[in-house]
Amino acid sequence: MLAGSELILGVTGSIAAYKAAYLLRELRRAGALVTVVTTAHAERFVGALTWRTLSGRPVLSDLFDPRSEEAVEHVALAERAHAVIVAPATANILAKAAHGLADDFLSTLLLAARCPVLMVPAMDGGMWSHPATSANVATLRARGVTVLEPDSGELASGLAGKGRLPEVDSILEAVERLLTPVRDLAGERILVTAGPTREPIDPVRYLSNRSSGKMGHALATAALRRGAEVVLISGPTSLTPPSGAVYVPVQTAEEMREAALQHIESATIVIKAAAVADYRVRDPRASKIKSSKTEGLTLELLPTPDILKELAARRGRAFIVGFAAETRDVRASGTEKLRSKGIDLLVANDVSRQGIGFESDDNEVLLLDRWGGAIELPRMRKLAVAGAILDRALALRAAAAASPDPAAPHPRPLP
Ligand code: PMT
Repeated sequence: MLAGSELILGVTGSIAAYKAAYLLRELRRAGALVTVVTTAHAERFVGALTWRTLSGRPVLSDLFDPRSEEAVEHVALAERAHAVIVAPATANILAKAAHGLADDFLSTLLLAARCPVLMVPAMDGGMWSHPATSANVATLRARGVTVLEPDSGELASGLAGKGRLPEVDSILEAVERLLTPVRDLAGERILVTAGPTREPIDPVRYLSNRSSGKMGHALATAALRRGAEVVLISGPTSLTPPSGAVYVPVQTAEEMREAALQHIESATIVIKAAAVADYRVRDPRASKIKSSKTEGLTLELLPTPDILKELAARRGRAFIVGFAAETRDVRASGTEKLRSKGIDLLVANDVSRQGIGFESDDNEVLLLDRWGGAIELPRMRKLAVAGAILDRALALRAAAAASPDPAAPHPRPLP
């Protein structure tokens, strides 16, 4: 996997920076193309000449270096990379990454990166075991960043403890794992719905909602990456459908229903992230309604079909996941929706909160299952939320299959 891969090696200010030179050499020997990004403190330990000689590429460190084309292109660089490895990673870079700080090239690049990220900590034992560092590591891991455990032994301070940079071979193995896609959904056929529906009022107007489709598209992307066959039924969005998905664009709730029913029989998992309009206009007009400055307009609305409930009733062998967009009493309303729709897992989000739910890149959700389990996930990128939802669906389904009592609660929490 390493041969031909485009990697970024971030080096931060630790005495273990010299070991990163050996790591770089081994990455290059394995055929990886590596761009080194250093922090100002890292340069005090190992100079740019070493990195440039070993990588065969310019070394990046200054966000505002007028000589460097790449300096203004940290986003493009992050997009090109298959993985970012930060070795050694100090307590400082872990804290900056956990809190989203971007005050130099490396931290800015970490914020822009959407590829897998591996942090390889090296620091004094007391710093590693400090509650602040533990909390930062937990935050990063919850977001999907791989943070290796440091080795134990003699430290630069002369003390012994946990904080040494792991051996180069262990780091190489971790990089290999990072680049090897998990294919645990091979053989699954996953039906995902995404985006809003539009219920016409007349040829130019419609009833709809704020859904951007990001959550549903993230689910489709995450499932495809893990080897599933994916049918993505989506209302109108500005997103490009993930390549590899069977993409079914729809406009109205009725169109979404028809498309979903066509695929329900072959689906093994259904995930209904779409924000279906709850009402449609009884008689959409054939021509544009004239606007009037003096008279109001009365539209008669009828409920749209409850697609999720119908899919659950016709599920066959499919595991059914629904979403709930709530603005208050998220747990109580979600629990009621889980029950009334007859589904297996419900993903509840509070759409009144800034930065999550509709349109945002992040979400923070509560996973409620029909066996009584409830798991609160921290705020994460929608792609990471999608991965966690898929993990939970697989764990619950496996536990249900293994249990002699179909009503038995599921013991398996998320890792
Ligand atoms: O698209 P984004 O901008 O990324 O935003 C994501 C999201 C907020 C849309 C998503 O996280 C979400 O909450 N989706 C569900 C929105 C919703 O319609 O919630 P609801 O509580 O009204 O519906 C509950 C469930 O029933 C949903 O799975 C919905 O798809 C389904 N439903 C609702 C009405 C209907 N007529 N048919 C349905 O199938």
